[in-house]
Amino acid sequence: MRMYSVVFTMLILVVIACNKTDQIITTPTTTGNTSIVNSALLNLPAVPFDYVNLNLPAFFFVNVGGGAPSSVNGIDNTPQNNTVTNHGATLGRVLFYDKNLSVNNTISCASCHNANFGFSDTAILSKGFAGGKTGRHSMTLINAKFYQRGRFFWDERAATLEEQVLMPFQDQTEMGMTIPLLLQRVREQSFYSTLMSNAFGDTAINSNRIALALSQFVRSIVSSNSKYDVGRAQANNLVANFNNFTAEENEGKRLFITPVQNGGAGCFGCHTTEAFVAANVGPRNNGLDAQTTTDNGAGQGAFKTSTLRNIALTAPFMHDGRFSTLEQVVEHYNSGVKAHPNLDNALKTPNGAPLRLNLTNAQKAAIVAFMKTLTDETIATNTKWSNPFK
Ligand code: HEC
Ligand code: HEC
Repeated sequence: MRMYSVVFTMLILVVIACNKTDQIITTPTTTGNTSIVNSALLNLPAVPFDYVNLNLPAFFFVNVGGGAPSSVNGIDNTPQNNTVTNHGATLGRVLFYDKNLSVNNTISCASCHNANFGFSDTAILSKGFAGGKTGRHSMTLINAKFYQRGRFFWDERAATLEEQVLMPFQDQTEMGMTIPLLLQRVREQSFYSTLMSNAFGDTAINSNRIALALSQFVRSIVSSNSKYDVGRAQANNLVANFNNFTAEENEGKRLFITPVQNGGAGCFGCHTTEAFVAANVGPRNNGLDAQTTTDNGAGQGAFKTSTLRNIALTAPFMHDGRFSTLEQVVEHYNSGVKAHPNLDNALKTPNGAPLRLNLTNAQKAAIVAFMKTLTDETIATNTKWSNPFK
């Protein structure tokens, strides 16, 4: 009798679990027999690239103490049920570059997230499948994994990356698809069943698996091979002067990381850690406009900011792409911050007025020079993140 009720309860639980169709299912972390993808269209290695081991330098995991945190410990938004596997990210890579997954077969995710431009777009607004423009400037995908809140888009309307990656397909400007049409397009291409089976253990194709794989690919894109990283690895901490930096770059670094009250420009408080990502407080108003424009962002003109790594490659800048150069961005923080009612406290003086940094021209140039040391050329040259289609 007792045994019977246990089995019965388990059955009920299974039924409840199966009814939750929107639930993200578990990814097997090990796959048994994997097959080489033989396709005239694809160029994939016999042994998948390594997406699991990011080989991050040790300093990524060390806190310098004082001021803003520098370690990335605890800010990884990877959910337990979607850890990156080499086969999962490989499938994600193919989906990411597949133009057949837009309604008229013209664009892929990579059309607006180009590895040569830090996985962003050079256009102020990107062009969708029918030539229509997106509502905001495209965002870099680098270090998406290191945003602790794990929410996505400038207004953070996607609660998780797994939720976000299915939205561009269904966006009527971007890719113009429906989920049933997406599944049909994936099923029509024979190589996907092998890729699915390598990644998930069988050939079934569903939107959940597409979301898991794309998220794995995006989370694998992490930058740690810039001039900054070379200098940081040789220094005891990020405050010390770096041997490989010019005097100007070291001065820019000092200004960037030092709080305003200590004579710096206070950038590191909001663009923080060795991943140079937004702090966990979430969207902020950085004084671009005196009043909320037609774009309310996450509310009252507050917007998410993504990583500043590879920032020199991702122009134009801000959610509306209003600045075309880093010089303009620095001048904004120096003299252009507007007194919006929701302006972040970090950009106000003690009496509530918008902060004026009063930097010299040399100091402004130094901050720009420092941001350019965050450029990592390997993001664009590493084959594992490149287009696998022949
Ligand atoms: C037509 C251009 C276009 C296409 C195609 C496109 N995106 Fe985007 N992407 C954008 C724009 C624009 C934004 C910012 C939109 C916003 O915040 O409202 C964005 C934002 C994102 C973000 C949020 C990043 C962050 O830090 O919050 C992710 C992730 C992303 N896209 C992934 C993808 C994936 C995966 C695909 C393919 C399935 C894709 N995108 C297809 C233009 C595009
Ligand atoms: C109060 C927090 C805060 C401070 C302090 C701050 N920023 Fe920002 N930063 C933001 C936010 C929020 C955005 C995105 C705003 C938007 O697009 O509406 C942003 C955007 C940027 C961008 C453009 C990013 C992109 O992908 O387009 C750059 C570059 C930048 N900041 C550099 C700096 C520098 C340099 C400093 C120091 C002088 C600084 N920030 C200080 C919050 C801050």
